[in-house]
Amino acid sequence: MKNLVIAIDGPAGAGKSTIAKIIAKELNINYIDTGAMYRAVTLKCLQNNTDIKNEAEVIELAKKTEIDFKDNNIYLDGKIVNDEIRTIEVTNNVSNVAKIKEVRYLMVNVQRIIGERSSVILDGRDIGSYVFPNADYKFFLIATPEERGSRRYKELIEKGVEVKLQDVIDDIIKRDEIDSNREFAPLVKAEDAIEVDTTGKSIKDVVDLVLQKIK
Ligand code: DC
Repeated sequence: MKNLVIAIDGPAGAGKSTIAKIIAKELNINYIDTGAMYRAVTLKCLQNNTDIKNEAEVIELAKKTEIDFKDNNIYLDGKIVNDEIRTIEVTNNVSNVAKIKEVRYLMVNVQRIIGERSSVILDGRDIGSYVFPNADYKFFLIATPEERGSRRYKELIEKGVEVKLQDVIDDIIKRDEIDSNREFAPLVKAEDAIEVDTTGKSIKDVVDLVLQKIK
């Protein structure tokens, strides 16, 4: 049987990874968090004191980087970095790494290889519009910046991180802007993607809606 490819795109905090993980389990297919890949490169830059504004340096480093997914873990050069890629420092720098075209080529290449070898659901910004334009199903999740910000805020507070709600909302808006306005493969709804507004909807509501379209 042909591999199934499901694309879940949308801005930060729209619920993509939560929904994608549940759908992956439900359909017994692999889940790839493509944002985690850009985060891993960003983490490596920070660890190496690479100036993120120096594109040539970031590209050099990205070329020497190995990223892999296994058993719901993300590996950066052979080491699990699930938690390290979620720090505020990584979050605040990742959009500037993700806008570099050559870095995107490297990541997209890995995503396409994974998509070709098994059925997969990928969440990101450009999966339906660029990485897999022929995906079997495409969803574009949205929610108001306030709702997306308060979801992220709750996650951070639960982890014990001290933040202000307004700062989290402002950071999300800033990230949306960089992601949407970059030159190459920006955050955009593919023409044939199904838009789902998750504002005020429960996780179950959104999962049911997505599954209904797939089955
Ligand atoms: O989904 P996330 O917040 O973990 O994504 C981190 C960053 O990576 C986000 O600011 C945009 C970028 N990204 C991207 O440019 N393309 C993707 N396919 C996934 C994420």
